[in-house]
Amino acid sequence: MMHSHSWWQTGVIYQIYPRSFLDSNGDGIGDLSGITSKLDYLRWLGVDALWLSPIYPSPMADFGYDITNYTNVHPLFGTLKDLDTLLHEAHQRNLKIILDFVPNHTSDEHPWFQQSRESRTNDKRDWYIWRDPADDGGPPNNWQSRFGGSAWKFDTPSGQYYLHLYDVKQPDLNWRNPQVRQAMYNNMRFWLERGVDGFRVDALEVLLKDEQFRDNPLNPAWKPGDPPRRRLIEHYIVDQPGMHDIMQEMRALTEKYDQRVLIGELALPVERLMSYYGEQLDEIHLPFNFQFVHLPTWEAHAIRQTVEGYEAALPEGAWPNWVLGNHDMSRIATRVGREQARLTQMLLLTLRGTPTCYYGEELGMQNITLAHEEMQDPLAREHPEYSRDPVRSPMQWDDSANAGFSPAGIKPWLPVANDYQTYNVSAEQQDPRSILMLTRALLAVRRSYDALTLGSYRSVEQESANCFVYQRQYVHQCCLVALNFSAQDQVVTLSRQRQGRILLSTHMDREGLIPLSEIHLRGNEGILLEVEA
Ligand code: GLC
Repeated sequence: MMHSHSWWQTGVIYQIYPRSFLDSNGDGIGDLSGITSKLDYLRWLGVDALWLSPIYPSPMADFGYDITNYTNVHPLFGTLKDLDTLLHEAHQRNLKIILDFVPNHTSDEHPWFQQSRESRTNDKRDWYIWRDPADDGGPPNNWQSRFGGSAWKFDTPSGQYYLHLYDVKQPDLNWRNPQVRQAMYNNMRFWLERGVDGFRVDALEVLLKDEQFRDNPLNPAWKPGDPPRRRLIEHYIVDQPGMHDIMQEMRALTEKYDQRVLIGELALPVERLMSYYGEQLDEIHLPFNFQFVHLPTWEAHAIRQTVEGYEAALPEGAWPNWVLGNHDMSRIATRVGREQARLTQMLLLTLRGTPTCYYGEELGMQNITLAHEEMQDPLAREHPEYSRDPVRSPMQWDDSANAGFSPAGIKPWLPVANDYQTYNVSAEQQDPRSILMLTRALLAVRRSYDALTLGSYRSVEQESANCFVYQRQYVHQCCLVALNFSAQDQVVTLSRQRQGRILLSTHMDREGLIPLSEIHLRGNEGILLEVEA
């Protein structure tokens, strides 16, 4: 059907962590050719766009989020030519490619920073955030790095501190300097010219810092055991005045190209998140919605409240989006268990708005367990409990050695999950009721029902506190989704008189017409129905 929506509204995004997707050259690390060789799988699955975590040259202090050259490809991942091939092959298959763009900081090995640190009078000095020591010689203020410790690093030769809100090898750029802005916009243009379909923009909420560098207030709610970065409220480094001008500049430059998307990583409470759509919807197309990731209890009523609160907070005309996990957060199948992982796939793929799936979610991949000495993440150095390595393990392709990620005999950069022989693409393709086949079926139904891609959202009141039921409607087409978030059987009532047709159950064992007056849902079962509008 013809309609005026963009691909990033009707489509589904799939996040690839390139190091962990497929190692085509046997060095234990995934690469671009590996991704290209799996495009047919992604097409078969039925997603529409691939977001790649950073693939740029980098010393890998933060696995690519520390960049030394924004307009090239790290040799570990391949060459610019490999990227062009990936773009070409993806576009041939009607798949879009979204790159990660990291504006807040570069690597300390980036030539800009090398120059900046040369002397206080260097042309690039002001490209980063340098401050004199406090009166006692200590750091200029109390700001904390999100990776632990002071956010300031003393640079002995020039006698000043530089700011790093993440790793010490990730100095923050000074976005108040117009030259920095122009240089970074040129980097964005480089990829847009090459045909990249958009960016996921990293750590946007901290792009500008308080001009007076005031101390952050103490967080009264902090208790021992909470992450150290929560000790202070990040009042003077998050969501500062002036941010929206930058967002509008980024958007305006993106608009010069046809059909590109800006997705923002913005760790903000929902009301502030909404402001990043822009008052005139002229800022970020999709400010990532992480609400499900931070829900303290995974229960039907809490999920429903989250959805309703988000729907209500969305500005007029703004397009919603949903996320269950990514390369920084515990995997959904670990958080909710494998049974409910099927239900959460149905939730993610039937809510209103653009879903982003993290690689391996379609297989039910869970976090791996690693010994401290096996951990690679800079966050794990002092706090193994915050390590993000467990969610970045190699993609599970088949039951051969290394799950088909690296050739046999090669040690992948992170261990493969123990249960890969059960949970892998090849085994799950042969099991018609696997979570992989369920995900694929959900994606297919989603594609063929405008109600699911474009339709309105409305909650349907239920007596059972364990069930979350909602309706999606587009013109005369109407779908109902009924999700049982308990392990016990539940009964829901969708309509006293009418009948509905089951399009899909998460158990994948029933379809056809049923009366809507009394629907029995088994433990952790979700059903998707078509009903008369
Ligand atoms: C974002 C990325 C994370 C990275 C950080 C610093 O939060 O998702 O992986 O460590 O920014 O770039």
